[in-house]
Amino acid sequence: MDHSATTPVDPLVVGAMLPYFSDMFGNSSSLHSFGREAGEALVKARKEVADGIGAMPEEIIFTSGGTESDNLAILGSMPQNTDKKHVITSVIEHPAVLNTCKFLQSQGHEVTYISVDPGGVVDLEKIESSIQDNTMLITVMHANNEVGTIQPIMDIAQIAKENDILLHTDAVQTIGKLPVNVDTLGVDMLSLSSHKIHGPKGVGALYVRKGTNIHPTVFGGNHEGGLRSGTENIPGIVGLGKAMALAGERLDKDSKHMQHMRDSLIDKVLGSMDGVRLNGHATQRLPNNVNLSFKNVEGESMLMLLDMEEIAVSTGSACSSGSQNVSTVLKALNLEDEYIHGSLRISLGRENTIEEIDSLFNILRSTVERLRSISPLEGR
Ligand SMILES: Cc1ncc(COP(=O)(O)O)c(C=O)c1O
Repeated sequence: MDHSATTPVDPLVVGAMLPYFSDMFGNSSSLHSFGREAGEALVKARKEVADGIGAMPEEIIFTSGGTESDNLAILGSMPQNTDKKHVITSVIEHPAVLNTCKFLQSQGHEVTYISVDPGGVVDLEKIESSIQDNTMLITVMHANNEVGTIQPIMDIAQIAKENDILLHTDAVQTIGKLPVNVDTLGVDMLSLSSHKIHGPKGVGALYVRKGTNIHPTVFGGNHEGGLRSGTENIPGIVGLGKAMALAGERLDKDSKHMQHMRDSLIDKVLGSMDGVRLNGHATQRLPNNVNLSFKNVEGESMLMLLDMEEIAVSTGSACSSGSQNVSTVLKALNLEDEYIHGSLRISLGRENTIEEIDSLFNILRSTVERLRSISPLEGR
């Protein structure tokens, strides 16, 4: 139940990849038949990825994953020698965006971090009022990886378009869970990652709208239209293509199934347990995300006790004693102190079952009761 961290590779994806480790091992840049075979696989996968987001194949740049796609979008769209040197982002972005923005600041660029409301939604008025003459890029994630809040990307796109500013979104958590179409969203760049959608690790893609002028951050033999040099990871890319195709085919069924489990868990927990909050937005949330905070309980202790029951979840506080280790996302939502250390992210996947939700709930309830019975904070 930690699918936002990663997902098991679908057996159909493994099957599609395997020949490209052995018989079909060619370098897609080679002109002989081995190379051409790999090249054909690359073309097919690029089309599968493009089709999955309503893009054209030539708008897909294969990368090593979501992190590299975010880096390329942000660093690649900042010109080196002009006055366009301002980026707008949100306070709850993934570190792949936040730390890239921090690096830009260290290089003399300006970054504005937009706050979010208690549900985790970015403030559109603040985005609009932060625009300067030298604003180059707005980068706001499609949905948050911790609390699952879905951002109003279409509204942000309107603002970006009116002001002639590039818009990038990190859609790593939304592919396979929500319909993702680059034209409907109105974005110029979009990051995605294979291992969050039942594909292999270490591969992803950046969509770059035709005509968008970005420069490479990795230099070499001009692969990927010159934007990302390095011999393509053919087995990984074939896996990503297959995972995208499956995600598209299964989107309706999978997202309904996940949402049913999500709502059942939320109803049970909020309906029968005291001292618990649902973090993130009540309705604008990923179908697979349940982020809860339990009063006077430490998230890490819950995580470890659940792990002993073979239930995998994650927590928003890395170290229970130091508030500096609480996730920046939860801090941005202004949770009260007694709740902020007791957060759990349960992120469901297509292979989870409603029976598993029932047993998770029972184990979670007894775990929280047990921890509260020994908590020095209880009854204060
Ligand atoms: C929203 C978001 N962006 C980017 C990433 C990084 O992706 P990758 O692990 O493929 O580098 C993640 C993964 O945790 C994520 O959740």
